[in-house]
Amino acid sequence: MKNITVIGGGTMGNGIAHVFAQHGFEVTLVDVASAALDKALVTIGSNLDRQVKKGALSEADKEGTLRRIHPMTDMKSGVADADLIVEAATENVSLKLKIFTDLDLMAPAKTILATNTSSISITRIAAATRRPAQVIGMHFMNPVPVMKLVEVIRGYATSDTVCESIMSLSRQLDKTPVEVNDYPGFVANRILMPMINEAIYALYEGVSGVEEIDTVMKLGMAHPMGPLQLADFIGLDVCLSIMRVLQDGFGNPKYAPCPLLVNMVTAGKLGVKSGEGFYAYTPGSRDLVVAERFR
Ligand SMILES: NC(=O)c1ccc[n+]([C@@H]2O[C@H](COP(=O)([O-])OP(=O)(O)OC[C@H]3O[C@@H](n4cnc5c(N)ncnc54)[C@H](O)[C@@H]3O)[C@@H](O)[C@H]2O)c1
Repeated sequence: MKNITVIGGGTMGNGIAHVFAQHGFEVTLVDVASAALDKALVTIGSNLDRQVKKGALSEADKEGTLRRIHPMTDMKSGVADADLIVEAATENVSLKLKIFTDLDLMAPAKTILATNTSSISITRIAAATRRPAQVIGMHFMNPVPVMKLVEVIRGYATSDTVCESIMSLSRQLDKTPVEVNDYPGFVANRILMPMINEAIYALYEGVSGVEEIDTVMKLGMAHPMGPLQLADFIGLDVCLSIMRVLQDGFGNPKYAPCPLLVNMVTAGKLGVKSGEGFYAYTPGSRDLVVAERFR
């Protein structure tokens, strides 16, 4: 594989483009919004600068990485030479189904179609194409240049050859791939989200406070960040929507989202991106301050 096309230049797409380009691949980065592409290139540039400063990358490698990234708004020309397409567009079922139907029509027959979705069934996405054996989940973690894991998700029809080539490609990116099957939440979110939901229940039921719950998990379980702070980082809307996927997919009441989580999302308290979740975020400040409501 030589030519990689990344669809979507947001949080994940820019990280995925960065990592492929840093490892020598030619990367076409496609987004519907040219402003998103501009922002992606700025972000990649400053993340590369940080790697150079830390001595992890030479100035020449940084320049080479940037040279290998080709931004584009036209999907058709962006996928014409792709060996692999990694889709990292907005998490929305109908949008992803449409993108995969289009990619299937536009990309060469040999091209593997991967998705970075956190929660949508790979089998369902694959069924929107005429090449389900060549559709696979390639679930990178945020921030992509830092996090080692790639959850490689086999859809119902994904072929062994395609799975093996994505596992080996992930290793070429200096990542550790783990193969999992396509069931709701895969492995990462099936385990992480119920833990976060349970932490919210503990707060909701008055078992303990925000800082206390996070401290128990940090100091007691050696988690680098408490579950409530992590929920704020991920976005409470994203956490809620993944809990709904687990609830719908398994039909088991143990996956019911905590009413406090539902209320916070309804009230627009989405965590870092809205300025308030379990903690309050002031631009420019790195202090972690519990939101007034939970003090
Ligand atoms: N953010 C995370 O922590 C995280 C972690 C793992 C996986 N994911 C998954 O990665 C994917 C992207 O998430 P994100 O956080 O980067 O979202 P984001 O909102 O930051 O970026 C999405 C980008 O997709 C673009 N886009 C929308 N429609 C498009 C189209 N038709 N063609 C091309 N580009 C299009 C948008 O303009 C935007 O720039 C989602 O499927 C999400 O579930 C996110």
